[in-house]
Amino acid sequence: MSQASANLSSEATAPCATARALIEAGDPAADARALRRCLGQFPTGVTVVTARNGERLVGMAVNSFAAVSLAPPLVLWSIRRESSSAQDFLQAGHYAVSVLADDQVELSQLFGSSHPERFERARWQAGLQGAPLIEGAIAHLECRLEQVHEGGDHLILVGHVERYARFEGAPLLFTQGHYGVAQEHPALAEATPPGDQSAATELSDAELLRQLIYASQRLSLDFDSHRQALGLDMPMSRLVNRLREGACDPAELARATYLEPEEVADGLAGLEQQGLVCACGDGRVELSTSGRERQAAIAGSANHYMKDKLGQIAEADLAAFKRVLQALGHD
Ligand SMILES: Cc1cc2nc3c(=O)[nH]c(=O)nc-3n(C[C@H](O)[C@H](O)[C@H](O)COP(=O)(O)O)c2cc1C
Repeated sequence: MSQASANLSSEATAPCATARALIEAGDPAADARALRRCLGQFPTGVTVVTARNGERLVGMAVNSFAAVSLAPPLVLWSIRRESSSAQDFLQAGHYAVSVLADDQVELSQLFGSSHPERFERARWQAGLQGAPLIEGAIAHLECRLEQVHEGGDHLILVGHVERYARFEGAPLLFTQGHYGVAQEHPALAEATPPGDQSAATELSDAELLRQLIYASQRLSLDFDSHRQALGLDMPMSRLVNRLREGACDPAELARATYLEPEEVADGLAGLEQQGLVCACGDGRVELSTSGRERQAAIAGSANHYMKDKLGQIAEADLAAFKRVLQALGHD
């Protein structure tokens, strides 16, 4: 081969030249689980498909969902023939698809199980033909069951979309047996010129600040059930966190916690009632022994909560986020 043609062929093959180690290969009939692992190399979103058959509600996590046609508007998904809800889906003649958001892993797990109280535990609203629409999903597609095809140990249910709704948010992904989140490819993100960013990165500086505040408020609200489980509300929780550093007077507490003086007074009264703070005698208050224990419990709970939230974000993104927060926190 001449030098010129050698260059040409290496250029032509460059985009797919990565040599990958073979993990497994073989006859699908010999090992169905290995085939499932191979199919898991293909990433999907996660949906919850639901239906009402008379008085019975059925719903399950589904990642076999796919778009089929725009005109007419058709979608499909496949259900295991042996599924306890297969007959209900067929008889209902109608189903609703809720495309899950990246903060709905628990819902996917709930609807991926045979839990009898799936619908008591989830928040939903009845849609067309009473099929439940899962709240917090990023899309709803309400479908009339149009065709059922044989698909080996599955049935393929083709639906005609009668109504759809799209909401803001990012999708939950499923690949290689794990949940994931969508992220722009780093190589493309770097190559994208500043004026050509996606809508998510098109925030003005002022909007960025608003988003930061909004995210903080949303997390704080979401964390409230954990505080309540420990007998604390938001002001009390802020106060015990500040008091962990040592005794403090109410004015300093208000400054350090961004609480109004009345909120500090109410919070301290609540903490005192539970025996979590005691007066030092010089106008300052400090944590009692049980106050210190409660503070450690709420800190542990917050740590656990944030680990769970941040666990869904790529490490590189997190590192960049921490650097930005540190830079913003410095004068
Ligand atoms: C991410 C995920 C995707 C799933 N996709 C499908 C699917 O496409 N079709 C299916 O029949 N089951 C699928 N399942 C399994 C069902 O959700 C599960 O079998 C069902 O909820 C259990 O109820 P059943 O006993 O009525 O089958 C999936 C589960 C998970 C967690």
